[in-house]
Amino acid sequence: MKALVVPGYGPPGTFTVEDLPIPEPGPGQLQVRVAAASLNPADLLMTAGTVREMVPLDFPFVPGTDAAGTVTKIGPGTRGFEVGEEVFGFGAPPSFAAGVGIPAVTSGALAEYATFQAGPFLAKRPPKLSVVTAAALPSTGMTGLAVLERGRFQPGETVLVIGAPGGIGSVVVPLLAAQCVVLATGTGPDRDYVRGLGATEVIDHRGTDLIGEVRRRHPGGIDAVVNLALTGEAVIAATRTLRPGGRLLSTTPGTPAHPAVTTVMGTTDLRPGTMDTLAAHVLDGILPEPATTTHPLSDAPRALADLAQQHTRGKLVVIVDPAATR
Ligand SMILES: NC(=O)c1ccc[n+]([C@@H]2O[C@H](COP(=O)([O-])OP(=O)(O)OC[C@H]3O[C@@H](n4cnc5c(N)ncnc54)[C@H](OP(=O)(O)O)[C@@H]3O)[C@@H](O)[C@H]2O)c1
Repeated sequence: MKALVVPGYGPPGTFTVEDLPIPEPGPGQLQVRVAAASLNPADLLMTAGTVREMVPLDFPFVPGTDAAGTVTKIGPGTRGFEVGEEVFGFGAPPSFAAGVGIPAVTSGALAEYATFQAGPFLAKRPPKLSVVTAAALPSTGMTGLAVLERGRFQPGETVLVIGAPGGIGSVVVPLLAAQCVVLATGTGPDRDYVRGLGATEVIDHRGTDLIGEVRRRHPGGIDAVVNLALTGEAVIAATRTLRPGGRLLSTTPGTPAHPAVTTVMGTTDLRPGTMDTLAAHVLDGILPEPATTTHPLSDAPRALADLAQQHTRGKLVVIVDPAATR
């Protein structure tokens, strides 16, 4: 089978698409013919070696955590799925899954075939949910839902979403906008994109003092911040936009400890049925389909290089089986 192959820790320019043996499902696992897989910043963190102490990889490594496809084989003792079923969901490299204690091991979604653990991170794809949207949703969707739950947002609150045009923002902004006033960062054409997601105010953060601009517009401070982009001290600085007692939720790796800051982890905050909830939200029109840019598997190294620029709108999706996504 064709797979994206990472030969050792390094940038996407060192990755190649090569032939590898088809992975066989172990106990509790499924083998899936991958139709589409989406890219996440975690793919870059892991393959660059940035988190190698927490998530050591075995090479050659096949990246990719989020996929939609068709079940082709069932591993020993695996229950709840059948060959031929359409599925979508999340899986992580063994060291990641063991480190955070989640039943979600995959052999790597950026390949024609991948194994996934048949647990709460995998679900059946409803026929009306497109393959591309199903592949786009797992990581960002479960993290977005975790942000909504941990944020305990109240109707009418004013919330700033930093990094709104990206994958998680495409989930968080519409769900938040159903009950809160959403201020969002965005630049160029992304301003219209985040307005379309439901943001009331858009602040172009490039060349702007974001914190000063929020304080100018809301002198008493805002109720909450959802940070999807800033790291380190910049996260602490963003708490200056808050009213007394306001709170900041952050999904970025390396978010520093601070009394007003809550770090949200999609994987460890997962509730049973999260993938089904995400699918239902899209089919019920509560959650718009995220904007997607698609690439063929042969172009996956360039797609990951694009993701590394950190200016993605919505999601980058790799079409592994074009016939299955028509
Ligand atoms: N904790 C978890 O479970 C979990 C799960 C998934 C992801 N994450 C993390 O959450 C973060 C967001 O993930 P994602 O998938 O949404 O990423 P993404 O799709 O790459 O989107 C990030 C967005 O941030 C914006 N941005 C970049 N630099 C910015 C800045 N200085 N100020 C304001 N906006 C900026 C970009 O838009 P512009 O073009 O407007 O700059 C981009 O749209 C990443 O750090 C990721 O690693 C965490």
